[in-house]
Amino acid sequence: MNQAADFKQRGTLERNEALAVPQRIPWMAITPFDALACPLDGNPLHCQDGVWRCADGHSFDIARQGYVNLLPVQNKRSRDPGDSKEMVAARSRFLAAGFYDPIAEAVNAAVLGDMAPGQHACCLDAGCGEGHYLRSLASAAGARHLSLLGLDISKWAVQAAARRALTAHGGLTADSGASRWVVGSNARLPVLSGTLDQVLCLFGFPVYPEFSRVLRPGGMLLQVDAGQDHLRELRQVIYPSLKPERPPEDTAPPGFTLQHQQHLRYPLTLRTADLVADLLAMTPHLYRASHEGRARAAALTSIRVIVDVRLTMFRSAT
Ligand SMILES: C[S@@+](CC[C@H](N)C(=O)[O-])C[C@H]1O[C@@H](n2cnc3c(N)ncnc32)[C@H](O)[C@@H]1O
Ligand SMILES: [Zn+2]
Repeated sequence: MNQAADFKQRGTLERNEALAVPQRIPWMAITPFDALACPLDGNPLHCQDGVWRCADGHSFDIARQGYVNLLPVQNKRSRDPGDSKEMVAARSRFLAAGFYDPIAEAVNAAVLGDMAPGQHACCLDAGCGEGHYLRSLASAAGARHLSLLGLDISKWAVQAAARRALTAHGGLTADSGASRWVVGSNARLPVLSGTLDQVLCLFGFPVYPEFSRVLRPGGMLLQVDAGQDHLRELRQVIYPSLKPERPPEDTAPPGFTLQHQQHLRYPLTLRTADLVADLLAMTPHLYRASHEGRARAAALTSIRVIVDVRLTMFRSAT
């Protein structure tokens, strides 16, 4: 069964969305972001013969999957930080089925909306997961030039993103081969100060002082967060009662001004137990839920949920 037919049988995106069809990307329009900094001393890194080096002699090999690990052991809070291999695989399947395509389209519109054809921008996806949103952005870039960096603290996520760049023949494909993939932390971004035009933080963990440092003055931060009704129906199954939600902050973090806020809301029907399990596995609820709550979710063979997300654009003031 082809992907589109499979998708139609198992789940419905109730906005009558067309499936995202992989597009041919103008190769030169997307380039890997290069202004990386040594995670040990902040010096500029330069790449030669598959190794990133700083002037003080620190060196970081490019892994055979094509990513570089810039998260020193001493900056790790656990042995295997971030999303697990299983969570990454679940998110990968769920996103590839197109259920969050309207979110990707809204992100693309927000990033590309003000860019003229031929214009160049450097963009970081901070907590990029398996790279879905950067691939979508690359596909939508058209004649705009983007230098892309996907960073995540999870080695599994970055590995999955980078692996997509390698074809079965060991070559690079345009959609993700042209992005830079890095294991690193938002808490201490291995990026030179003032080198980015855009930072994306999508369902992630924002560290505003770091985002402010790496953005050029006037650069944009786009944050996507769960809204009050996001996946409420699933949460009602797994928790005995739902806590009242705190209203979202409407003030900008220090160093930023609020530019724009937008809500995106649509219903989604998942028609198999596997899809319900994938959705649960890619949310924090998998770990927060009790054993009984998880068992109730595992018994579901279908569910209709509301996707409710908030997109917020902040401009870097410094
Ligand atoms: C909910 S997932 C979202 C992933 C992706 N943005 C998406 O929407 O598909 C959160 C991601 O943040 C990563 N993460 C957690 N802590 C992080 C940190 N300190 N720095 C960078 N990434 C982090 C996790 O490994 C995970 O991939
Ligand atoms: Zn160094």
